[in-house]
Amino acid sequence: MKNRKVVLAARPDGQLKESDMRVVEEEVAELGDGMVLLQIEHLSIDAFIRTTFDEAAFHGTAELGNAIIALGTARVLDSRFEGLHQGDAVFGPVCAQEKVALPGVMLQKIDDSQLPARCHLGVLGLTTGMTAYAGMLKVAKVKKDDLVVVSAAAGAVGSCACQIAKLQGATVIGIAGGEEKGSFLREEIGCDSTIDYKQGNVSEQLMELAPEGVDVFFDNVGGEILDDVLANIRPGARIVICGAISQYERVGEVNGPVNYLKLAERNASMGGFTVNYFEQDYPEMQENLGKWVMEGSLRLPEHIEEGIDQFPKALTLLFSGGHKGKLMVAP
Ligand SMILES: NC(=O)c1ccc[n+]([C@@H]2O[C@H](COP(=O)([O-])OP(=O)(O)OC[C@H]3O[C@@H](n4cnc5c(N)ncnc54)[C@H](OP(=O)(O)O)[C@@H]3O)[C@@H](O)[C@H]2O)c1
Repeated sequence: MKNRKVVLAARPDGQLKESDMRVVEEEVAELGDGMVLLQIEHLSIDAFIRTTFDEAAFHGTAELGNAIIALGTARVLDSRFEGLHQGDAVFGPVCAQEKVALPGVMLQKIDDSQLPARCHLGVLGLTTGMTAYAGMLKVAKVKKDDLVVVSAAAGAVGSCACQIAKLQGATVIGIAGGEEKGSFLREEIGCDSTIDYKQGNVSEQLMELAPEGVDVFFDNVGGEILDDVLANIRPGARIVICGAISQYERVGEVNGPVNYLKLAERNASMGGFTVNYFEQDYPEMQENLGKWVMEGSLRLPEHIEEGIDQFPKALTLLFSGGHKGKLMVAP
């Protein structure tokens, strides 16, 4: 049986190019004991994938010529693993490809009777809904009447983070690039107001929208945007570093915040997190996210690129911001 997979062809030099990745064909491995044969249905396009293309990466370094790491959902075609059967939906580190044989212990069975399996990559997913939940509720501890700012607000984590803050009774300002994303955030995601960082100074726009300052900043971007928000924090503010997508293509030259002294002047705190540190809270997160989705108070639009050949384009789109909501590839 044939498989088509996307491999790393060259280590990117700064900005990622589609030509840094290549699609190759191979035979799927024979099924051994404890293994499961999968047809991959959806791949989650995540920023951490780009970070694995560099040497000494936090999430492990990709080898040239190997299938690129990616989380995904898949359907079981054949199983020699006791806990999984043909037709089951699963989640796991399936990599950027169409089919794969993996040890069953690496996979998590998904209940797709009420919501499509791909929701476990998006609104219910570890790197999306659960990340937004952990950052907003466990780290920032956002509460009623907080003034909350979210960067990359129209993306996957950002769209969920904005809605989770609104569900707590906060006022939410979303930062995103372009007016189309601004109206998406106000009309579909429920942000109270938005800032287009591509049009004018973020610090000045924030001063107008939040003259008394910001209580919580959920940062997905880093760099200048982090500095602009730090200049506008209120006493006791909580700054949460979820990610820094503006810095991932410049490893070794990361720009740290110039305005960090505002933390001392405003008795504020800044903390980072990775969702894996909150494993003990996964059941609570899954239960609440699922409940909000079912009752219609949390929604995450999806942008799905069709075909494994589109994986390189999709990964570059994540950095150019050519999508709204959760970006995925359906191989
Ligand atoms: N801490 C954790 O455990 C964890 C887990 C998952 C993800 N994350 C982080 O969460 C963040 C968002 O990830 P995601 O998967 O939800 O991606 P996403 O927000 O769906 O896509 C990334 C967005 O970032 C914006 N962006 C890209 N480059 C930028 C730049 N130079 N300046 C300003 N904005 C830029 C683009 O939107 P615009 O059009 O608005 O520019 C783009 O749509 C990433 O930093 C990621 O590393 C953290």
